[in-house]
Amino acid sequence: MSAPTLVDRLSHLSTELTAAERENLKFLLSMAAGGLLSGHARAVPEELRAVALATAQRSLPRLHGGVRPAFETGVVFLGRGPFFSEEDIAALDAESRRYRERAERFHDHYVASGAPLARELALSTKVHDFLVSQVGPVLPTHKANYLYYDEPGLGIDPHVDKDEFSLNVLTMLQHSPEDRHSELILHPPEQDALRVHLAPGESLVFFADSVTHQRTRTVAGETVRLVSFGYRTIGSV
Ligand SMILES: [Fe+2]
Repeated sequence: MSAPTLVDRLSHLSTELTAAERENLKFLLSMAAGGLLSGHARAVPEELRAVALATAQRSLPRLHGGVRPAFETGVVFLGRGPFFSEEDIAALDAESRRYRERAERFHDHYVASGAPLARELALSTKVHDFLVSQVGPVLPTHKANYLYYDEPGLGIDPHVDKDEFSLNVLTMLQHSPEDRHSELILHPPEQDALRVHLAPGESLVFFADSVTHQRTRTVAGETVRLVSFGYRTIGSV
């Protein structure tokens, strides 16, 4: 049997922590991974940076007990979700346009919460049953956000999400014009970055609390509009 690695030790440590302590450790690891991915430690030898990054990235899914056993990329589903009808997408699109004026700036993008249709669909059996079929028992967190990146220079640096969006159902409503610049990029551990280009109506379901991800900056004239539903796996610690 090989010696426990630092990832194993951190994973073991997380079982002894309170929920608040574990959230703190997750935050530290996500800041470390995000900072290293953003090139904030160039003075440190490359080998150490690579080991530290892989340790942070591999430890994040391990903070959740045994419920991410097959974690490789964090992606659960990518494409046109069977849980939305054409009418659902059209209604979400219309509601998100209406809610734009209520959106508040959150770091480098805009967020509107509490819209009734988004909340209703986030609680629908269709979405719930699909997620259960993919990852086992889940609970909605009652969080549904419209996200707007519709000014030049908006985006979000590498990070992992809070517990409310552990399992994130992220659906594209608009990305225009045709010539896109802003990209959603996932950084699974020790693998090439995964560039996700969603067409309107397509969804990415992923463990947003475990895989570092970012949205690169928009350029002048570019608009990205999304809706995000938050779930938690049951049994998560
Ligand atoms: Fe996120």
